[in-house]
Formats: sequence, structure tokens, C-alpha cells
Amino acid sequence: NTNAEWRWDSKVNESKTLPIYQHKAELIQAVKDSTFLVVTGETGSGKTTQLPQYLYEAGVCKDGKIGITQPRRVAAITVAQRVAQEMQCTLGREVGYQVRFDDCTSQDTVVKYMTDGCLLREVLADPVLSQYSVVILDEVHERSLNTDILLGLLKKIFSDPAKATKGRFFPLKVVVMSATLETDKLSAFLADCPVFSIPGRTFPVTCTFGFAVGPKDVESTGYVKEVVKVALDVHTSEMAGDILVFLTGQSEIERACDLLYEKAESIDYRYDVQDQTVEGLLILPLYGSMPTDQQRQIFQPPPSGIRKCVVATNIAATSLTINGIKYIIDSGFVKQLNHNSRVGMDILEVVPISKSEAQQRAGRAGRTSAGKCFRIYTKEFWEKSMPEYTVPEIQRTSLTAVILTLKCLGVHDVIRFPYLDCPEERFILEALKQLYQFDAIDRRGRVTRLGELMVEFPLHPGLTRAVLKAASLENIFIRPVAEILNIFLLFIYGSMNDFATLLSVFQSCKSSDRPSAWCKDNWIHWRALKSAFSVETQLREILLRLQQRDFPVETFDGNKSEIFRRCLCTGYFNNVARRSIGKVFCTMDGNGSMVQIHPSSSLFDQEAELNWVIFHDVLVTSRVYIRTACPIRYEWVKDLLPKLHEVDAYELSSVAREEVTDEEMIKWETREAVSTEDVSKKLEKR
Ligand code: CDP
Ligand code: MG
Repeated sequence: NTNAEWRWDSKVNESKTLPIYQHKAELIQAVKDSTFLVVTGETGSGKTTQLPQYLYEAGVCKDGKIGITQPRRVAAITVAQRVAQEMQCTLGREVGYQVRFDDCTSQDTVVKYMTDGCLLREVLADPVLSQYSVVILDEVHERSLNTDILLGLLKKIFSDPAKATKGRFFPLKVVVMSATLETDKLSAFLADCPVFSIPGRTFPVTCTFGFAVGPKDVESTGYVKEVVKVALDVHTSEMAGDILVFLTGQSEIERACDLLYEKAESIDYRYDVQDQTVEGLLILPLYGSMPTDQQRQIFQPPPSGIRKCVVATNIAATSLTINGIKYIIDSGFVKQLNHNSRVGMDILEVVPISKSEAQQRAGRAGRTSAGKCFRIYTKEFWEKSMPEYTVPEIQRTSLTAVILTLKCLGVHDVIRFPYLDCPEERFILEALKQLYQFDAIDRRGRVTRLGELMVEFPLHPGLTRAVLKAASLENIFIRPVAEILNIFLLFIYGSMNDFATLLSVFQSCKSSDRPSAWCKDNWIHWRALKSAFSVETQLREILLRLQQRDFPVETFDGNKSEIFRRCLCTGYFNNVARRSIGKVFCTMDGNGSMVQIHPSSSLFDQEAELNWVIFHDVLVTSRVYIRTACPIRYEWVKDLLPKLHEVDAYELSSVAREEVTDEEMIKWETREAVSTEDVSKKLEKR
């Protein structure tokens, strides 16, 4: 027997030892018995990987696909890989995945893992999800924005039995999976549906608090070093068993891994380690944007005598379960997207985790035997700096894209949409305002032609609008669209500055013979550029598709650089700043925040000549900085700026509160009709 075969066998048998296996028949029955079902169970009990396989075996797929959503793209991909392996099929055939900008499915795909964002897009095209027999919303306890919206939509569409079968030939089954949190609330939300609990086996985990991080250290990054120190302590003084470290993001994780490598070098295994069976340390990073083949390594058992130490983001808290973990090292922090109302946009921030999150992290050490959790923060930090629960994403981010999606789905009254937890009304209003400013909706809250185009793009409405603007010029100038696209992608994925710099980096790399070598020579993340290339291709495809419909055509006068910046202005006019005094600029969005150009910007030294700039984002430290900026002329935004102040929240709130009109109802009905037609066409083809 080769090693690979042995591993394979052990995996197959392992699936029968998972807690869920005992309940296979009952679970299948429970899914068949009701429209909605809530399934709960400890993380690692086999919900994500096994339930879809059970349903597949039970023949559910003869009516349609099984779709499983994940809030995180990495989870969707790795789980699909695993399930394809367990089902002994090629990934992309019977089992596939679809995440933003990466579709690995085919005609044959019946078990489809995808991000919640992807399913939301599908609902948009086909509100009754006619291709599916079962839809499983997974990781609902994470309360990601898209999952929350899906919950509301599926409740709205399928709790009315008459509506639920319209446009479908068989009723859809909706399964909602969650770690043990909030199941009563979920069941109550979904028409008091049954709850299926998979009894878990867990072992005690002893938690200890540290001394390093207290309430005063909420803003410091000293925790990285502390985490490394504790990891090495555990490695040398604790019995064999793997370590899982929680940090917040890629660069931090890479830094921690480097430090660990460095320090682990000097360990003398004859004298320094307590457990003499431990002979080495295998350090593995785990974060969202890392290549999937590298991720796969995480799940392999380490060679004998070697202790595995996985340094991960929050992804390892619930989405992915790594076997063999006995020690947890918890930094106490997480990277979170929060809406900052002071600057009027979403900012990725490092914040303390909630207590419930800390408990979840600790629990990862007690899956197969008793474990230990080392919290590097003090008891005081726990008491004073950590909230009880994590606030759902819907209550802390801007809602523009979601509100537009809802509007396109015919949900006119976005304030009274069935949210599991209502976002604050002022955020809904802010979203409506932004959509109005970018011309995605009109004064009465109706989706415009531009809005219909915009909703096709997985980008912020401002970015989308600039892309569309550039695209509408393509018949005259070949360059703008390419340039705009290139740039967006880079700052979505890259960490570099200014528009022009980003552009030349992207172009030079793209035109070089060996792009990956080029990146290495220039100290640039190849991965970031590779994603950018792939995103560009995807956006091009969307554009090409849209341009076949009646697509707007426009002209601008001016040279290349000017046209390019003017296109950017159409998407960034809410991020305009005017020089105030000295180095200080004042934003024009009504808040009138005082900002400065970030030192990393190429405009930093040239401030004397700048009067007006647009910028991509804001960084708040002791000062408020704007990053990725470019100079513009006032004339380019003059006509756009008033739009920022034209409508006040009151006016839009009366729009939002308006009852659903006949027109909206008709739109909704015709959408259903279209999808019914689609289904029959598809069936004819078979
Ligand atoms: O969804 P839930 O947390 O209940 O469990 P799961 O993700 O289905 O995990 C079940 C088992 O599959 C665990 O023992 C994981 O370690 C294993 N697994 C794996 O080995 N490789 C993956 N890519 C995903 C899961
Ligand atoms: Mg799971």
C-alpha cells in the first residue's frame, strides 16, 4: 500500500466516526419533512461535509442541485475539495464550487458549494431557485451580511406555500445550519420550523489568561510577539499535540510565522522540550487569500514526532476544522469590517473579539481529547474590552449593494424587509442616499437603468459606476475601460497606493514575459496581481455581456490622463477633498472631515500644487489620512457634488416607507414568469 492510499482509507473511515453519522437516516427524513429545517451541532461534527453527501445518496438530486453556502470563499473551496475527494469524483464534476470570480462547476455539478454572495446573485436571476432541490445556508451563526439577507429572502419567498411552488415543479427545501447559537431565534424566524440538534462530544478545555494585553492595549499590535512567545512556550513545555494560533490577517500571520521559524531554530530538542517524543515544529499559515494547494496541507496529519502549529485567521474558528488540535493560543483580536459613520465608509479594523467568539476559539482544542487554551490577554481585558456577542455584519456595515440587490429583487420597502436583526434605520437611509447619489435609484427609490447595470457587478456602486462610465466610452477610446478595471482590482486585492502607480504596476506586470518573476524582482505580491488579472477578466466578461444589451454611449473631450481621471470622478465624487490650509484637506461629503494625504502616497510631497483630489479610502490613526489619491479639477466634479447634498434622509425615508405599488408587484410577477419559462426551456433541452 502506498502512503497516499493509506491516507485515503483513513479519511473514508473517519467520516463514519463523525457525530453526524449516527443520525444520517433521521436527518434525511427531517429535511424531506418540512420546508425549513434548522440543523445545529458542534463545529467539526460533520454538518458541512456530510449532510450534502447524505442527501445526494438519498437521491434528492434527481429534482435539482444541492446548494451549500459559506460566508467565506476559502471554506467553500476547501470543503468542496474535501467532499469531491470523499465522493471520489473530480472537483468540478458532480461536486463543485463557485466563489466570486472563480467558477468550478459544470453541467454535471449537483453538489455545489458556494459563497453566500453567489447564491444571492442567483436569487436575483431566478427568485424561486428553480435549479435547486435543497438549499443549505451554512455557518448562519456567523451572521454575515449576505447570509442574513438570504435568510430574509428565503423566508419571504418560501414561507407562503402558494408562492413557493410557483415557477417550480417541486417544493424547495431550505436547511439552515448553525453552531449551537441562537437556534430558537432561527426557528422562530423561519415559521417555527423544527430544529435538529446533533449531540456533540466535547472534552474539557482549560483556559488561562495572560498578562500581556490589557484594556489599554486595544490599539497596539504587541500581541503578535506575545503570541509567538506563548506558542514557543507551549511547544517546549507541553505534551505532544498540535497548536492552533488565532491572529487577524495575512501580514500579521506571515510575520508571526517568520518569528516562529527563527526562534524554533535554536531549540535543542535534547534539553529544551518537556515531552521527549516531540522532535520538531511544523509551522503552517492559514488565511483567506493563500493558494488552495497550500491550504490542503493544513489538514494533513504531521509526520510522527513533529508538532504542527497552524497560525490562522478566524477562519479556523468555525468554518474549517483541523484535526489533532490540543492547544489554542488566542490573540483576542479579529479583523472586522465596520462602518465608520464619521468618515462615511466601511473600514477594515482590528478589534477585540467577543466573549462568545473567544469561547468558540477555545472549544477547538477539545474535539478529540481534553485541551488547553492560552489567552494572551488579561482577565480585565476580557471583562472590559470584549463584548458579549459579535454584532451581526448587517448592523455594522454600509448596506448599499444589498439594498440595491433587494430593490432589483422587487423588495421595495427595504425598511420592513424581514431581517433577522434589523440594521439601524440610519444605515438603510445612508445606503439609499448613496444609491441615489450614484444614480442607481431615482428620487422615489426606484431602480434606474444604471442601477440595473450596476447590480450585475460585485463591486462598490462607486467603482461600478466608474467602470460603466469608462465602458460607455470604449467605442471612442480603447484605453479607459482597461485602465479603470485594472486599477480597481489592484486596490481591492493589493496593498499599494496611488492610482497611477497601481496602473503602471499592473500594466508592466501584464506585459512582461514572466509576470511572476517580474513581481519577485519588483517586490510585488504576485498573488495580488494574479487575482487582479482574474478579476479583470471576469469584469470584462460582465461588461461584454452588458454591452450586448442597449448600453449607454458617451463622449468626453481631453487627453488620455484626463479622461481616465474624469471616469474615476464619476465613481469617487463622494470621496473628493479640497485643500484647506497647509497639508490639511477638507472632504466635500457634507461631513467636512479634516484629512491629510498619507505619507505612503506619491502625492504626499507634492501637496503644494494640489487643490482638489479624489481618494480611494481613509485610514484612521491618530490622524485621519486619505490613501490612494489623485489630483482632479473642480470642473469635473462640479456638477456631481450637489448631488451629495440634494436629498436628505427624511425625503428618502418616506420613499422607503411607501407601500409596495402595483407596478412593483407586476415587476415581481413578471420576474417569476420569466423564470418559469426558463425552467420549461431547460427541461425541454434535457
Ligand atoms: O461543518 P462541521 O463543523 O460540523 O464539520 P465539517 O466541516 O463537516 O468537518 C468534518 C470533518 O471533516 C472534520 O474532522 C474536519 O477536520 C474534516 N475536514 C477535512 O479533513 N478537510 C477539509 N477540507 C474539511 C473538513
Ligand atoms: Mg461547517
